Amino acid sequence: MCGIVGYSGVRRAAPVLLEGLEKLEYRGYDSAGIAVCDGGVIRIAKKKGRVKEIAQAADFNGSVGIGHTRWATHGKPSERNAHPHVYGKFAIVHNGIIENATELKEECLARGESFASETDSEVLVHLVAACYRGNFLQAVSEGLRRCQGSYAVAVLCEDFPDEIVCARGGSPLVVGVKEGETFIASDLAAIASERAEVYVAEEGEFVCVKAGSAVFYDRNLVVKQKERLQYDYNGDSPEKMGFRHFMQKEMSEIPSVLKKSKLILSNREFYKVLCQTKYIDIIACGTAYHSGLCAKYAFESLCRVKTEASIASEYRYCNPIVGKKSLVIAVSQSGETADTLAAAALAKERGAYLAAVTNVPYSSLTRLADYVLPTDAGFEVAVAATKSFNAQLALLYSLADLRSGGGGEWLKGADALAERVLEVSEGVRAWTPYFLNAKSVYFIGRGVDYCTALEGSLKLKEITYLPSEGYPAGELKHGTLALVDEGTPVVAIITQKALAEKTMNAVHETRARGARVFLVTSLPECAEHPEVTASVVIPACREIFSPVLSMIPLQKLAYYVSIARGIDPDKPRNLAKSVTVE
Ligand code: F6R
Repeated sequence: MCGIVGYSGVRRAAPVLLEGLEKLEYRGYDSAGIAVCDGGVIRIAKKKGRVKEIAQAADFNGSVGIGHTRWATHGKPSERNAHPHVYGKFAIVHNGIIENATELKEECLARGESFASETDSEVLVHLVAACYRGNFLQAVSEGLRRCQGSYAVAVLCEDFPDEIVCARGGSPLVVGVKEGETFIASDLAAIASERAEVYVAEEGEFVCVKAGSAVFYDRNLVVKQKERLQYDYNGDSPEKMGFRHFMQKEMSEIPSVLKKSKLILSNREFYKVLCQTKYIDIIACGTAYHSGLCAKYAFESLCRVKTEASIASEYRYCNPIVGKKSLVIAVSQSGETADTLAAAALAKERGAYLAAVTNVPYSSLTRLADYVLPTDAGFEVAVAATKSFNAQLALLYSLADLRSGGGGEWLKGADALAERVLEVSEGVRAWTPYFLNAKSVYFIGRGVDYCTALEGSLKLKEITYLPSEGYPAGELKHGTLALVDEGTPVVAIITQKALAEKTMNAVHETRARGARVFLVTSLPECAEHPEVTASVVIPACREIFSPVLSMIPLQKLAYYVSIARGIDPDKPRNLAKSVTVE
């Protein structure tokens, strides 16, 4: 959460910083700010709200600066809590949490210093100023040594007008260097289009940035040689490309993402672990957890391997039984989710082989994992995950297919099917009036359709703010049915022939209580039932893998209801894409 950027180069820093921040807005959009060193004086522009709010106020001339887009943790979204924070000759931007901020703040207050904000981050700039005796890097290092928690920081000092000092301790930081210019950012997305040589800061490292150069230091301030990141700049960039929203663009990319997915046979060592393990644990959060749950059904049904999917934040605290040399798969689009990282570290500590299914090949999760399985879905900017979910499913299903002796046939043609599903899913737009002011919405299904129901419900609630629940169709009558009354929208998912009749029973039960039933199905006979208000019939695929297609109409449903309710689906309130706090 929170995004930081920095620039030192030949151009005016302010527009470069604003452009980078806009590309990082998915990490938080409660407030934004920049600091530019202009003729040895630090100038600040910051405001509550989106990056565009500061564009006018940020008309500075200097060519060295730092910037921040915030997702509030300590202190409400406001101008005074916006970064950069300034004290003495220093300005700082911070991504992370300083856990001992209260105690450190008391020390500063006792010295007679005063604070302008309610944030934990402001204490950092006070610490750096207090440690400063003419050596900028040393002061940042000494200041940070006092802090517990996590950080990626970038600091300006008026005595060093052409320099930025950065540090990484638990939050991501990348550095891009090209002729005469250097960029820093929380994520490659902010600087990819610059086509610079990219270096990833490791835990505990410091970087001194000047125009066209970056010197890395280890935690003892010894200079380090770094290898540049090998990444394919294939023109993929976090731009809307003519679409109204990123979410719309990202859903449209699902077919091409599925086309790129292939069976991973290249890593022989991983293949051996996959084929030999007697137990698979999948750990993840949110949408990634739902893809893990879908994979559990596939691993158990196709491979007969006991598989558990766990929410990472709970896994950590249930003292999990982790089989030595069993396989733990951490699934994370960003590879930076704090709870997933902590759960993955715990599993590794207890002797499991750790595989990372992630969309960011240079993320913290990849550094922790024994095996990296990239989903290769391209930048995903909208807060609501869409194409990354389908990509995770394609990869996890391929593993199940592989372990059960398959050759990846199921994936052939999946892109064409997804294309067809995208077309028919446009039909859900006509459903929106029934959802607009619903008191609550229920998504129901059995077997793998239950996993789709959970994800359909998450998608709807996060970008429409409508209360919603995903429920096993057979479980409704054990309590939740009491909530269904006249006009309640119920979305049923039916893609498995053997379970169709049973789920239809739940449809009858809700219909009898006045619900309006909407159906996503690959079985046309279900769609024709008179009790169904409206339906989308999708092409059939191998039933156990059907969530990869059946989720698409539900993504579209959430999207259309969101815009009909006047919400920006790319930036729902209170959320951020990369959840780097616990
Ligand atoms: C929902 C959504 C979140 C993420 C969750 C995990 O649309 O995007 O629920 O899935 O925060 O994020 P990653 O996959 O980056 O670990």
